[in-house]
Amino acid sequence: MNSVKLEKGSMKTQSSSSTSLLRKLLIVLTTGFPDQKFLGAFYIPFLVEITPERFRKSLALNLLSISPHYFGQFRAAEQTSSRSAFLEAEHQRMSLSRQQLIDTKVKPHLTSESTVIDHGCGPGYLANAVSSYCRQVIAIDISDGVIACAKAINAKPNIIYMTETGNTLSKLESSSIDLIYSFAVMLHVKDEVCRTILEEFSRLLKPQGKVVCEFLVADASAEELVEKANSILGKVKSKYTLRVVGRPLKRIEQFIRDAGLKLLTLSENEPEEKNGYYTFLLTRE
Ligand SMILES: C[S@@+](CC[C@H](N)C(=O)[O-])C[C@H]1O[C@@H](n2cnc3c(N)ncnc32)[C@H](O)[C@@H]1O
Repeated sequence: MNSVKLEKGSMKTQSSSSTSLLRKLLIVLTTGFPDQKFLGAFYIPFLVEITPERFRKSLALNLLSISPHYFGQFRAAEQTSSRSAFLEAEHQRMSLSRQQLIDTKVKPHLTSESTVIDHGCGPGYLANAVSSYCRQVIAIDISDGVIACAKAINAKPNIIYMTETGNTLSKLESSSIDLIYSFAVMLHVKDEVCRTILEEFSRLLKPQGKVVCEFLVADASAEELVEKANSILGKVKSKYTLRVVGRPLKRIEQFIRDAGLKLLTLSENEPEEKNGYYTFLLTRE
């Protein structure tokens, strides 16, 4: 789920532009408050809950395909396969790719007794993958709609799904967590949110605990903040299109230090791509 790449594959045909108009309308109808809370509209958890169980997975996958966060990469494939085949293929692809990410970046730091936080869990593919390697997963996301979808497609007895309501993390006990991971989240949040999240990670970690966190490293000039535009159109864009924030390494390191964390290692996620995505391994200072 590498959101920055998503737009590149879209096909500029006539039928795709009408699809894209419908998609835009659906994004507006399903996004909640504050901005960027995709699938955060108040009715989505209710809709998922009242849907009979045998249709729930299909509904969840259809909802996920609306948000710019999930399933975007393969939009072009929608032109060539049936919708249900496309959604099932995306479900399988996500399960596999998130399993590989957990196996390479997270599993080496776990024991079967670990208590783990999945921060910004989205549809729960990472939580599902990690759940067989640890005791308990607390999977947290800002969107209650995506949490409803995660429960429908990635439920496991040792996963607790929670909606981040602004004080969810503060309700969790200090120094109680062995490992916290966060993929494809910090590159979508503003600096002040990023700093607050890192401070909470530092508070929640046990003294020898670890944080595995993805950042997009970029020059200051490559930083993209849609809301820099002051026009009405700019404000609309900032609410409904995906915010992507690349940060200079020095700034990320400063955030890490200010949060009382220290950097252990840094590894490129896709070295052959040279696209700036890095996994940071952190521990308490
Ligand atoms: C691109 S998705 C990544 C999902 C998952 N981490 C993965 O890699 O498969 C980003 C997720 O972060 C969530 N998110 C954004 N800001 C957040 C915040 N401040 N706290 C918790 N979750 C947040 C979004 O709702 C979205 O589900």
